[in-house]
Amino acid sequence: GRVAVLYGGQSAEREVSLKSGRAVYNALLEEGVDVELIDCGPDVLEQLGDRFDRVFIALHGRGGEDGTLQGVLDWANIPYTGSGVMASALAMDKYRSKLIWGALGLPTPPSQLIQGSDRATLEIGLPCILKPVHEGSSIGMTKVEDASDFDRAVAEAARYDNELLAEEWITGNEYTVAVLDGRALPPIKLETDNSFYDYEAKYISNETRYLCPCGLSGEKLDALGELAVQAFTSLGCSGWGRVDVMQDREGNFYLLEVNTAPGMTDHSLVPMAAKAEGMSFGKLVMAILATTL
Ligand code: DAL
Ligand code: MG
Repeated sequence: GRVAVLYGGQSAEREVSLKSGRAVYNALLEEGVDVELIDCGPDVLEQLGDRFDRVFIALHGRGGEDGTLQGVLDWANIPYTGSGVMASALAMDKYRSKLIWGALGLPTPPSQLIQGSDRATLEIGLPCILKPVHEGSSIGMTKVEDASDFDRAVAEAARYDNELLAEEWITGNEYTVAVLDGRALPPIKLETDNSFYDYEAKYISNETRYLCPCGLSGEKLDALGELAVQAFTSLGCSGWGRVDVMQDREGNFYLLEVNTAPGMTDHSLVPMAAKAEGMSFGKLVMAILATTL
């Protein structure tokens, strides 16, 4: 039957989604799938009509990745890629994801919730990273090295959200682990000369280094994959996603967040991990689509 790729939308990550959606659409076309690309609006059910059997969600951020669209599609009985309503909403909430992991004894950096309008007092160690609770692609994020930078970082994050997270910065290495059908793909190590892996390092810079294989081996490599799968399943996620993880200098891992509709541009991380296993972009897209069945 027909497949709709929903992309675009109205979130702050619209530009990224336009790239993900187009890449997914082109790949499905090449694989011979009967597919249409639709810029997702508030009238999405009218846009879809009764022409589609399945939806590939290539939207990022609020509206498309946070359970909202998932609820609309459930209501209309249209199967879609990725996590359901509850897991999507939980994974979009970086603070409440950490509460679940903490309750289960899964490692995540110490943090503090800040209501956007409050004058907050920093209660965790420096450096820390200030984030909107419900955002993606590092939008609104600032690394705070000095207490005098805190208020400015709060103001920046508060432009995007009314709940903010201050999270202790883990000095060491950053990894990301794609999860497909309950299984971890080879982790990728991210290296940037920016102060952190920010929007520029993600989408603009040619200097960002992506290492896959990531340089870990044996027990550490297995532990990272297992932790990613635990993080994913503990939030109730399904289908596919990507888990971001830090590692301190002693080798301990810390969970940052789960992305339930990660970037799918041809430079993105999940496609990179799949390729390391010999899975082409087209085969990856087909495998993700198959998780709707
Ligand atoms: N939020 C972006 C799209 C990602 O996780 O890849
Ligand atoms: Mg994210």
